[in-house]
Amino acid sequence: MRTDTEHTIFLRDYAPTPYRIISVDLDFKITEETTRVRAQLTIEPRDGTEPGTPLVLDGDGISLDSIAIDGAPLVLAAYAADENGLTLVEPPHRRFVLETEVLLRPETNSKLMGLYRSSGTWCTQCEPEGFRRITYYLDRPDILAPFKVRITAPKSVAPVLLSNGNLLEAGEAGDGMHYVVWEDPFPKPAYLFALVAGDLGSIHDSFTTMSGRKVDLAIYCTHGKESECLYAMDSLKRSMAWDEKRFGREYDLDVFNIVAVSDFNFGAMENKGLNIFNDKLVFASPETASDANYASIERVIAHEYFHNWTGNRITCRDWFQLCLKEGLTVYRDQEFSSDERSRPVQRIHDVENLRVTQFPEDGGPLAHPPRPDRYREINNFYTTTVYQKGSEVVRMLATILGEEGFRKGMDLYFDRHDGDATTIEAFIAVFEEANGVELGQFSRWYTEAGTPEVTATEDYDAATQTYRLTLTQKTNPTPNQPEKAPFVIPVRFGLIGPNGSDMGWSAVSGGTVKDDLIILDQDSVTLTFEGIANKPVPSLFRGFSAPVKLHSGLGQEELLFLARHDVDPFNRWDALQSVSTHLLAEAAEGRAWDNGNIDALRQALLDTLNDANLDDAFKAQAIGIPDETDIARHIGRDVDPDAIAQARAAFITALVAPMAGTLEALFASLAIHEAYSPGASQTGRRSLRTALLSLLVAGSDIGAALAERLYANAGNMTERYAALAISVRNWTPDAQALLGDFRTRYSGDLLVFDKWLVASAQAKDDGLIERMRTILAAPDFPRTNPNRLRSLLGSFVMNNPAQFTRLDASGFRFICEAVTEIDKVNPQVAARILTGFRILPMLEQRRRSAGRAALESLKNQDGLSRNTQDILERILAG
Ligand code: TRP
Ligand code: ZN
Repeated sequence: MRTDTEHTIFLRDYAPTPYRIISVDLDFKITEETTRVRAQLTIEPRDGTEPGTPLVLDGDGISLDSIAIDGAPLVLAAYAADENGLTLVEPPHRRFVLETEVLLRPETNSKLMGLYRSSGTWCTQCEPEGFRRITYYLDRPDILAPFKVRITAPKSVAPVLLSNGNLLEAGEAGDGMHYVVWEDPFPKPAYLFALVAGDLGSIHDSFTTMSGRKVDLAIYCTHGKESECLYAMDSLKRSMAWDEKRFGREYDLDVFNIVAVSDFNFGAMENKGLNIFNDKLVFASPETASDANYASIERVIAHEYFHNWTGNRITCRDWFQLCLKEGLTVYRDQEFSSDERSRPVQRIHDVENLRVTQFPEDGGPLAHPPRPDRYREINNFYTTTVYQKGSEVVRMLATILGEEGFRKGMDLYFDRHDGDATTIEAFIAVFEEANGVELGQFSRWYTEAGTPEVTATEDYDAATQTYRLTLTQKTNPTPNQPEKAPFVIPVRFGLIGPNGSDMGWSAVSGGTVKDDLIILDQDSVTLTFEGIANKPVPSLFRGFSAPVKLHSGLGQEELLFLARHDVDPFNRWDALQSVSTHLLAEAAEGRAWDNGNIDALRQALLDTLNDANLDDAFKAQAIGIPDETDIARHIGRDVDPDAIAQARAAFITALVAPMAGTLEALFASLAIHEAYSPGASQTGRRSLRTALLSLLVAGSDIGAALAERLYANAGNMTERYAALAISVRNWTPDAQALLGDFRTRYSGDLLVFDKWLVASAQAKDDGLIERMRTILAAPDFPRTNPNRLRSLLGSFVMNNPAQFTRLDASGFRFICEAVTEIDKVNPQVAARILTGFRILPMLEQRRRSAGRAALESLKNQDGLSRNTQDILERILAG
């Protein structure tokens, strides 16, 4: 296989194009079979461009039908066109209009990039490099232009015709055709272009902005699904209000449209004024969507809306800067969810997600910084590191600068860079300038990969009432980055006295401490606190103030003390998690646990459940037992997933059996008798019930029957799905029957079918892989739909480690075979599923070599996409 190094693109090679695009006029003629695209691009050489410099436009899989400059057709010698682009050998050295025509076949576009059809609807996905599959263009984010788009289509199949911006014109076009003209006055990069044409239902509403402008809002969907869009609409209006209040950001066009489609490579896309959504992130009803689905809908609607300022008005100079828009926008959506729901619960959620997805990425063969400096395939860099760690970096800025200082920087960012395609450096610079600080070393978070490990040691001297705290940081090497210099790590902390309250101190020396914030910016600092009357228990990284792994050195007793007394809810939760993770890892490594430790943990869980000051959602998280991947991560190397699964089961039984009656009574008392509402109070209550059920099924003999009954009597999807998933994960006697029932009960609904696929892939029995093969091979399995494929295969590789890493290699082989097939249809989806193999380096040797062997034989396949090759080679190199 070709090593493809010639395809590597480096940040250091960035240069502006010799030509600019001043404006774009597009004319789409849509028919059932083909779509003709005529593009008129007004182009100009930049100052300093030499006459005779060729103009190279991107293209991907398209072919040129006609070409003219300023209305005059070009002679053959004046240009060269192929599948990968169009070169004008010697364009005019002045402003000119390039007119091209290409013919597209959206029906056969299975990659879902560019213009394609989803259930009959024509739709587009252009980020990051899809626009070049629609027309020849300078398809890069630093080329900004206003767009005018005419769409002509058959009225019968496409009564709805949408594009970016405001509607200028609409009318009849004869022969059963009609047309529209949309204009987007805001210069934008091509990746934000969108077009939708189809026969769609819709709901409509409006929002009045803070300056009194009325914006028409609409959500378009399959006919019959309109009522399932209401929660998304409500979320949109709340997002618009929140961005005004929290960041002073107002919406800028007269219309904001959202379209839900069923075939989509990602969650959703922030196209200017025309967001396109994966329908699973729009449709919600109590019978078909879970509380978690409602929360995701709210979050993603907000995320895409917030991109209007962080992404669209201010965009990226190049794709290396992706986290400029994504990390910042995730930070904004996390803040929105925190304000709309419970802040501590949201924080725990976001950190759990970071630890489960980003930490393994950062510690494995696919590690890269939030702003990478090289890529072969940009689609493989829409990662949890760019998104979630990118958000953590912004959060650290806010922590270090304080709320006011952070807002000053954001205001300056919006002020100075509105209309720009810019960089991480420019983003950092506004915070430096607005706050008069220097953030050079802080910027390392953007350019260095790896999760720093912070070790705390302490020393108390009663005689002098002095407490010494030493914090040391260390980061392991990552691909291409062997040496690591110290990061700037904000450590929010408190010293908790014997009575459970935070202590003060008379003086502190040895490092930077301001109020409750330590800035650790060296390899090591030792802080000396004076006037400490008793030995404190340190509570470090409150609110998870930095994305690091902490070795606190605290024993179980001190951790349980934190779990009871810390004023910081995040650290209360984290202390309980540390205690169980530690005990579980010990058990998985074959050491016997001490029953006294289990008794103490049980008591702490019961005390948490009985604490009237804690809300249900928090309690649900607090009593959760770390899952197999959490434990594997803690062990770190030579991992044996079977041993972990067995140890975990035995541990939960020892923990739960003695309190099963209490948990069952609480479970029963939490039943909800009112009508379903997705609001915080019911959601919290249901999540606590689910957490209790989870403990009871895994750790007692009364659980399985409770789950079966909850499944049968559930009045909403949240409870029914929870009962199903818990039964399957623990492979109870009823599990198979419940799977069968669920399948037939909701047979018409594809989003519920996805839930069935996710649950099915969690089974623990030896028949699982054969069953998955049967599911995939069924003639009516929608094998080109990303949601279906990810539900079955993604959930298997990410969440069923014992089966995926089976010693007989059948799990590895199954995935490699599936990836080979999917790669021919949709490389983005194939490559993403393959990333599940990133866990190989942490497995014990036999499983590791079985996995490598499966990858080696995948590597021998001909014609693998660049997406899949890139992931494959990086994992094999690691
Ligand atoms: N920008 C989108 C977001 O808000 C990401 C995205 C949507 C995407 N569709 C895509 C990325 C297709 C790659 C390919 O997160
Ligand atoms: Zn985004």
